[in-house]
This record gives sequence, structure tokens and C-alpha cells, in this order.
Amino acid sequence: MRLSTRASHLKASPTLKLAARAKELSALGHDVISLTVGEPDWPTYPAASLAGHEAIDQNLTKYTPANGTLDLRKTIAKKVKEDLNIQYEPTEVVVGPGNKFVIFSALQVLCSPGDEVVIQAPYWVSYPTMIELADAKPVVIKTTSKENFKLQAEDFEKVITPKTKAILFCSPCNPTGLHYTVEELKKFVDVLKRHPHVFVLSDDIYNRLLLNGEKVAPHLLQIAPELKDRVIAFNGGSKAYSMTGWRIGWATGPKDVIQAMCDYQSQATGAPSSIAQHAAIAAIEKCEPDIAKTIELLRKRKAVAMESIQKIPNLKFSEPTGAFYLWVDVSHYLGKKFEDQTIEDDRQISQILLEKFFVGTVPGMEAGVNGFLRLSFAVQEAKIQAACQRMNDFFKQLK
Ligand SMILES: Cc1ncc(COP(=O)(O)O)c(C=O)c1O
Repeated sequence: MRLSTRASHLKASPTLKLAARAKELSALGHDVISLTVGEPDWPTYPAASLAGHEAIDQNLTKYTPANGTLDLRKTIAKKVKEDLNIQYEPTEVVVGPGNKFVIFSALQVLCSPGDEVVIQAPYWVSYPTMIELADAKPVVIKTTSKENFKLQAEDFEKVITPKTKAILFCSPCNPTGLHYTVEELKKFVDVLKRHPHVFVLSDDIYNRLLLNGEKVAPHLLQIAPELKDRVIAFNGGSKAYSMTGWRIGWATGPKDVIQAMCDYQSQATGAPSSIAQHAAIAAIEKCEPDIAKTIELLRKRKAVAMESIQKIPNLKFSEPTGAFYLWVDVSHYLGKKFEDQTIEDDRQISQILLEKFFVGTVPGMEAGVNGFLRLSFAVQEAKIQAACQRMNDFFKQLK
């Protein structure tokens, strides 16, 4: 075997693959509308971009400490205090090349072979593979529309064993766009208190993109600060600050875990980009008014997306409260025929939509559940409307 067993388990990120195929079709001259990638379509905010230019001009272009500059770690700690009223020292903050890698490194330093990490389905497409790459086992709990696709604390407790290392969850959630309320989180706190060996990996990457009027999504540590020693929270520049390409993410958590992540990163990535770190400081300090405008924009786009999807018969969804996704139930159409092909799963639906109607969507199966599509509404309103019109044309043809 040329490749390792690890590589043989490896699955390329399906959303990135779909986005690449959408780009290929565009390059061939097709008018593709992609609702696939979880990425804002507006530019990085001016203050952050300017700071990036400044960093280059001032020759801030050398290695930084592996865990990020002290200035950025202090800025992050201050921000977490402002947003969530949780106090961290700079030694309890680690910066890395994107939230994705920081979650990856947390799993690497926490998990040993045979450990279990609990996630819900639908999940963010990368979680199961990241857990497997840390030699641990994803324990997936399926959620349904009955619970509004939110993991129930009692279902979580049922799967806890001595091997359970952590629960990994995301609020607001990718792909559902729904966030956990204080009441729901309280139930998790009760369960976690009964199982002191379980860590919490809280992916907060969308916590500033709340569409219900609240400023920040409720956090487990606001409810139970006493869990601080076993909660690692992840955030970054990609979503609220529209900095996906700058690759800056961070984690806050107990010093021993954060130090281990820093050591891991020092061997794996060296340091995050010095230029991007400088820009991230400006983003955090200066871009609150830009985030407020973004929320307004997303609220409008969400309304357009919901209205457009409602025009397609037999599709169902819950109104998202955060992030920029609609999680649409298309299960009514499973078993129907398109031309002479029977539709067995949502991957087929997504593929036909892309190849024949030039609309990019993420199939629910990539998030662990069949019968759904994830649609991003971080896309211009006219494009959302046109994409939904094409989807309507497709679903009308199913017999
Ligand atoms: C739930 C979730 N976590 C993490 C990430 C990764 O963010 P980053 O660009 O900082 O690696 C994403 C991006 O799509 C995401 O949706």
C-alpha cells in the first residue's frame, strides 16, 4: 500500500468538492449559481483589510509565536469578556490557521485511540472525519424536525460511556441555522455535571451571526462558569468578519489543553500568518458596526430565501435563527422519477440540480441525514431567487 491507513480513511471535504465542481461548470461557460459554500459573499471589512496592508508595509511578515501574537491573544480575551463575560488570560487562548485547524488540533491533543466524541446529525461535514483522524470514534445522534434538529440533553446522556471524551457541537448550527437557547443549554449543564470526565468542544464560529435580535448566541459557560476547566470554545475571523481566506481561528480553554494545542501547532503549522493576525486585531477592535450591517443584510436575504423556497411545493424548513443556512426537507421527492432515473437520495437531487440546472446545493447525506438540502443565503438576493426558480423547475419535473 502506497498510502497510510489514515489516508485511506480520509474523505475530502464534500462542500469544497461541490464548490470546485460548480467553479468548473462556470469555467465551461454555464451560468452556475452556487448555494454551497459556507462563506460570506461580501468583502473583508475595510479596517481589517487596511491593517493587512499595514502589516506588509511595516514588515510584520515574520514568524510569530506558534500560538499567535500576544496582542491578538489579548484582543481575543478582551472580546470574549465583552461578549460572554468569561475571563481568559492570554495563556488560555491559542490562535491557529482557521477555526477548522484549531478544532482539529484540540481533537488531536484530547483524544486517544478508542475514545468517543459525541456529535449530532445533521453535523458540519468535517466533524466525523476530524474525529476519526484523531483515532477516536464519532458517536452520532440523529435529530429530527420533532426536536427542531437540536440534540436533546437526555439523548446525549444515554450515549455517555467511560470512553466518552467529549461532545462537539455548534450553535448556531451548520447546517440547520438554529441555535441552542439558554433553557436547552441548562439541560446539557445538568448532564455534564453528572459526567465530569466529558469535555465540551463548543464551536462558536457563528455565534455573532444571530438573526433574532440577540447580539451573541447563549453560551454554556455563561450558564455554568464552573465548567470552564473542561470547555474549549472555538471561534475565528471567517464568518462574522468575512475573512475566510485570511485563515485565522482561535480557541479559548483550560491552560493545559491550550498549551498542548500550542505545542501541537508548533510542530504542525509553525505559526498562523503574521499579516492575517494583524488584520484580525483590527477586525475584532473596529468592525462591530460592519457586523451590525451584515446582520441586517442577512436578515433580508433570509426573508427572500424563505419566501422563494415556500413557493416550491412540498418543501419544508424551520426558520433559521443564526448563521446563513436554510436546512430544507426535500424528502417528499425521494422515490420519484426524474426522466428515467429514480431519486433514491438527496445526493442525486443535488447532483442533478448542479449538472442540469446549474444550482449548487449541499446534500443532507453529507451532514449525515438523507432527504435534505443545505442552501446558503450568503448570496445576493437576485441569485437566491433565480436559484429557487430553477429548483422549482426541477422539482416540478419529478413524477
Ligand atoms: C461549523 C463550522 N466550524 C468551523 C468552520 C471553519 O472555519 P474556518 O474557516 O475558520 O476554518 C466552518 C466553516 O465552514 C463551519 O461551518
